[in-house]
Amino acid sequence: MTPMPATTTPDPTPAELIAGRPHLAMHAMDGLLIDEVPLNAIADITGTPVWVYSASSIRRRYRMLVGALSAAGVETHIHYAVKANDRLAVLRLLAAEGAGADVVSEGELRRACEAGIPAGNIVFSGVGKTEREVRFALIQGIAQINVESAEELEMLSAIATATGHTAQVALRINPDVDAGTHAKITTGRAQDKFGIPYADAAALYRRAAALPGIQPVGLAAHIGSQILSLAPYRAAFGRLAELTRALRADGLPVRVIDCGGGLGIPYRDEPAPLPAALAGAIRSALRDLDAGVLIEPGRWLVGPAGVLLSSVILAKQTQGGRFVVLDAAMNDLVRPAMYDAWHGIVPVSPVDAVAAPAPADVVGPVCESGDTFARDRLLPPLTPGARVAILDAGAYGSVMSSSYNARLPAAEVMVDGSNWSVIRQREALADLWRGERVPHWLK
Ligand code: LLP
Repeated sequence: MTPMPATTTPDPTPAELIAGRPHLAMHAMDGLLIDEVPLNAIADITGTPVWVYSASSIRRRYRMLVGALSAAGVETHIHYAVKANDRLAVLRLLAAEGAGADVVSEGELRRACEAGIPAGNIVFSGVGKTEREVRFALIQGIAQINVESAEELEMLSAIATATGHTAQVALRINPDVDAGTHAKITTGRAQDKFGIPYADAAALYRRAAALPGIQPVGLAAHIGSQILSLAPYRAAFGRLAELTRALRADGLPVRVIDCGGGLGIPYRDEPAPLPAALAGAIRSALRDLDAGVLIEPGRWLVGPAGVLLSSVILAKQTQGGRFVVLDAAMNDLVRPAMYDAWHGIVPVSPVDAVAAPAPADVVGPVCESGDTFARDRLLPPLTPGARVAILDAGAYGSVMSSSYNARLPAAEVMVDGSNWSVIRQREALADLWRGERVPHWLK
């Protein structure tokens, strides 16, 4: 077996994981609670696997971020990166807090609007926007389009002119900064597909100012995701500031600086920068520029707020070791398979929580060895039907799920204090092939 990335410290215990997450608690009778609701009570009704999100956690985190930015004296607008978790209930919750959105497709734009975030509070990012998507966004009155290439800029100008709109454009630059995160989610190095090469950006900004239907308003950068150090942020913000000054010296207006997303969270015990530290980095790089600042956080707002609640199908012992087979799989949460990501796994039952642990590989039923949530994780004896919560699954969880192995997407629930509701029903199996056709010549 290929080991998950080597770590030198022992895994945090379930008690330590719970203690670090204010929306979770272990109750002596009811087992693991999210807000005030026993996860068992949810699973008894919805079945498993089921995603459960704490509304209070998302709200608390949003307000903490707003507080950190305003304490630093940085007038910053938060555009939630919808891709992290695009469920209407999540978007509605953030809309009520005043968040704008950062979207990367017509689908995300429609979802955000449907949830009550007006297009005038939405930024459209992405390296490959189609003509149809751009036209739709302009008609909706999108606040800003972050353009990532000369080709896209010309296309946008043609569409804006043809439809009688003026597109407010920020140029997303590629600052050639390594965010120091997993290679698959690093986006700001020169070899990455994203953004406009730094050296080309000034000329393209000038071109944007001359093109019909385009109003260049500013600059953007997004260097990656799950960023755990401030240094790459400082480097990227420094480049944004430098370019802003150069453009202004040329007489070009730069009103907006979009600092992207990427702020990491501790999944295991990683020391992750706090919002105050990010706010400080924004402030020191951009405070003299008198520009409007945007950020596009996704994971930081919603990641810790969600769990994937799953039941043990069976536990098997082989020469290779002990395997706990869950009813959740890589088709639900792909992060461990895709990024070797570490997620905490906590037994839900108060009895399991105190039983003596032993190492186990925690796996799903999908027919791939990569369908492994954790290796050598210390867990109590878990018998069929025992439930576990896979932690920090609120971001890039359900949105990345698939129906591989003809498995149904899991149901989704939102909890708020002692209230909870299903926010996405489990579908029926026949829904999986709705829309498929067997051609008449095979019948
Ligand atoms: N803005 C842009 C332009 C982005 O591409 C992204 C994420 C964000 C903002 C939000 O980044 P965040 O604050 O969530 O780190 N599926 C991967 C993460 C992919 C991130 C893609 N872009 C994972 O599970 O780790």
